[in-house]
Amino acid sequence: MSRSETDDRGFQRVIKHIADEVDFEPGYYNDAYLGRRITARMRRCKAEDYDSYLTVLRRDDEERDLLLDSLTVNVTNFFRNPEMWEALRPVLRDLTADRRRVTAWSAPCADGREPYSMAMLAKDDPEIVARKLSILGTDIDREALAAARRGEYETTRTTDIGGELDPLTDAAAYVRQEGDHFRVRDAVKRMVEFERHDLIRDGSKSGFGLVMCRNLLIYIDTEYKQAIFDTITDSIRPGGYLVIGMTESLPPASREVFTPVDKRRRIYCKE
Ligand SMILES: C[S@@+](CC[C@H](N)C(=O)[O-])C[C@H]1O[C@@H](n2cnc3c(N)ncnc32)[C@H](O)[C@@H]1O
Repeated sequence: MSRSETDDRGFQRVIKHIADEVDFEPGYYNDAYLGRRITARMRRCKAEDYDSYLTVLRRDDEERDLLLDSLTVNVTNFFRNPEMWEALRPVLRDLTADRRRVTAWSAPCADGREPYSMAMLAKDDPEIVARKLSILGTDIDREALAAARRGEYETTRTTDIGGELDPLTDAAAYVRQEGDHFRVRDAVKRMVEFERHDLIRDGSKSGFGLVMCRNLLIYIDTEYKQAIFDTITDSIRPGGYLVIGMTESLPPASREVFTPVDKRRRIYCKE
């Protein structure tokens, strides 16, 4: 058996162990992504191959939790890709100029910085009618949702929360800062609700004027991407908008349903 075949079998054994023992569904994600996350943990444990890593995983509960942490990438920012948020201003102005209330869905929302960015932008831009907007943030990860509900963030060596809030003219109106600690103010929190939702298993919602589904599809196995798009598409009302991540693309079947509003910033309108 060649080295790569041995590796591949070892990899599949680790994946099976994750499916059986870890609170994570590896089948949703592509192998390249899973491989990168597992190899990163193997390096930390100094395991030389998949089978030695499996031995560590079997006997060490702490490593199982660390692997789970590494597999659920919660990386996010306030105003991630600021140029997309600039391009979103006219969309939100347009949506909230309507007589109806507008609901927006941030899925997945990780620790809440994406839906809070939308709420803050709506309050900060004088032409967006913030009181007409309510936002739902969902994620599969309960810990991320607990952090989102707390709405407290910390500037660290790798995260500059003050810098992330730069697109706002008056950030202090929406977050209270004490040193490196930032707390989202209640008036912003009231615009956002959070709930757990699995974009692959839990089916669609309805009537959203805007859905943001950014930076999840890149990790997902091709087989499940369409399920996510079906969920999202059915959740948007006709004339509503979809935003995906700047490095993501619509699958061919969805190109008939969505017209690009700003192709580079990945903003689309549903027919
Ligand atoms: C990289 S974050 C993206 C957050 C935000 N949209 C952004 O662009 O900054 C990816 C999130 O997807 C969540 N996730 C992974 N699989 C999911 C699924 N099947 N359904 C819903 N959320 C999922 C993870 O828990 C993680 O918080």
